Amino acid sequence: QELQMNLEQIEKGGYDHFMLKEIYEQPSVIKDTYRGRLHANEGIIQMAGVEDNLEKFLNADRILIVACGTSWHAGLVAEYVIEEFARIPVEVEYASEFRYRNPIITPKDVVIAISQSGETADTLAAIKLAKEKGAFVFGVCNVVGSSISRETHAGAYTHAGPEIGVASTKAFTTQITVLTMIALRLAKAKGTLSNSDFFRYLQELEIIPEKVQEALATNEVSKEIAAKFKDSSNCLYLGRGYNFPVALEGALKLKEISYIHAEGYPAAEMKHGPIALIDEQMPVIVIAPKQGHYDKVVSNIQEIKSRSGKIIAVVTKGDTQVKELADHVIEIPETSDALSPLITTIPLQLLSYHIAVMRDCNVDQPRNLAKSVTVE
Ligand code: G6P
Repeated sequence: QELQMNLEQIEKGGYDHFMLKEIYEQPSVIKDTYRGRLHANEGIIQMAGVEDNLEKFLNADRILIVACGTSWHAGLVAEYVIEEFARIPVEVEYASEFRYRNPIITPKDVVIAISQSGETADTLAAIKLAKEKGAFVFGVCNVVGSSISRETHAGAYTHAGPEIGVASTKAFTTQITVLTMIALRLAKAKGTLSNSDFFRYLQELEIIPEKVQEALATNEVSKEIAAKFKDSSNCLYLGRGYNFPVALEGALKLKEISYIHAEGYPAAEMKHGPIALIDEQMPVIVIAPKQGHYDKVVSNIQEIKSRSGKIIAVVTKGDTQVKELADHVIEIPETSDALSPLITTIPLQLLSYHIAVMRDCNVDQPRNLAKSVTVE
């Protein structure tokens, strides 16, 4: 028994939980994920699975992304990034819906299946269906040799290393890293990004790990904020554009490990329903970095404030406007809009983590949840 405990402590590398360890591993695993693939100085992105099948991607009528849970959120980020950079239409679907709704799939579709474990039953079934209809299927998996990695025609692994915490953290950011590289590679081939923009994004992606490291320094402030809101029974997450999927992911993290009811919404949709929930009891986490739809998000924040909601804002370092309105701010380093999900996600992971710990929840193994869902 004692030996077992010690072994687990060693595995946690000095952290109280696997989840926290995995949150802190993100700068290094993002680097592991782009190592050998991203050559910023030469202006090259090289991923064997993409190079070997470049024509299939370039001739595709559209890209269909299938996934579940957090991987589905990474898919939503990819939709924004691929459409913006490579101008290829993208649709994102829950694998469980896709497989049962007789979807229209043709040999001119490219399907990207995203899965940390590579074992999710619904995602696997969606892949089999897409293959039957003649589509080219590309996998983005973390576990080498997993069922999904074997079932797909080609793929690119994330190099997140083993993820033990049931709530996905480092798998999410490494998935976004891979999918962003794919978008950039396709953009280069299609000429849909100017050379200077392409080059700038490569440079920026290369220094993302340093910015993630900086974002991890919000741990203390996230903990202070967590202490104030740990007894809330509801929580709303808002974001726009690239940060709308981050709002969904932030809410999912909180639900999963703290059992607080949380919802993520595109900020502008607030007026179509969630605004009715806002009163002085309601914490609203708003992702409001300087790049992106800043002014629009500021006016959403004003609407929350005038209804006495408690505002926790994730802002770019040096922000003044939101600071004046919000009850609490979490400052993160500046990056371009398209890459911002890799940074804005970090404080939301930390916030959920601390709230869950303060509520005495089993952070690494939340009730009713499984790390990989191999049955329907
Ligand atoms: C489970 C896990 C989630 C994960 C989802 C999809 O629900 O608890 O963390 O996002 O499955 O898993 P996959 O391995 O396919 O990414």
